[in-house]
Amino acid sequence: AAGCLEYWQNLDSTQYRVKEAANAAAENINLIIARRQEKGRGRYGRHFFSPLGGLYFSFILPPGKLPLALYTPLLATALSESLASVCQRNCRIKWVNDLYWQKKKVAGIITEFVASKQPQIVCGIGVNWCAPLNASLPPEIAGRVGNLALPLANANLQKAYLSDLQSELLLEFFTKLQQYEEQRIDAAGDFMELYEAKLLGKGEQVLLSDGREVLLQGVDHNDGSLLVYQGKKQLKINSGEVSLRLD
Ligand code: ATP
Ligand code: BTN
Repeated sequence: AAGCLEYWQNLDSTQYRVKEAANAAAENINLIIARRQEKGRGRYGRHFFSPLGGLYFSFILPPGKLPLALYTPLLATALSESLASVCQRNCRIKWVNDLYWQKKKVAGIITEFVASKQPQIVCGIGVNWCAPLNASLPPEIAGRVGNLALPLANANLQKAYLSDLQSELLLEFFTKLQQYEEQRIDAAGDFMELYEAKLLGKGEQVLLSDGREVLLQGVDHNDGSLLVYQGKKQLKINSGEVSLRLD
């Protein structure tokens, strides 16, 4: 059956709401958008600040052939391509799920696997659109969170931008997903090449959250893990174990 969307002025979290709807037999809602969120969440339950001036949305889809670990890289690639085409912002990707623009984090992605009524993949995207965000950020993250500096002054213009971005992102995402599903063999190479090309710190010495200093080589196209060299030794790092430290 076809799904529907919900648009909220204010919501606790689009991620919670889409899961709740997926669990309720009578509701066939698979895309939720909010202008702001009171309890936006990142990975491990961490708070994602979601005041007015951002785009927050979640959507849900059944699992397919794409390995679960590749949904986040696929979304990050689709988001960075749609930001380039809709508003000419060239973002870099900070492994594994963040987008940076002018050295600041401007968007975050979360993908969760839920298996309540039936197995589902829940994708959530938060994009910091314009300036008011920074004023409300807690000091510990204010220095590394930025925004895309896009217009807020004209409400209609902003709405048009946001809906363009959102549809462009979904189009990019589902097109790439379909390409993968149809070709199967090695098809992840296509979007993982793009993902890798935008990787922040590629070819540079970077610091991992566990204190190791390594040379960032790239990502594994089959499972999205980070490939680094510690001296001459090549290591594969899974997301969840360690992250990249930029500051
Ligand atoms: P990071 O490296 O950004 O800390 P992560 O991807 O490992 O993040 P998550 O838990 O998935 O972390 O995302 C939540 C984190 O995002 C918060 O801990 C905070 O650092 C940062 N953050 C919170 N609100 C925003 C926002 N509006 N824009 C960008 N980053 C934010
Ligand atoms: C991150 O920064 O690493 C992930 C943040 C994901 C935030 C989005 S905003 C829309 C959706 N609803 C949520 O509560 N979280 C996601």
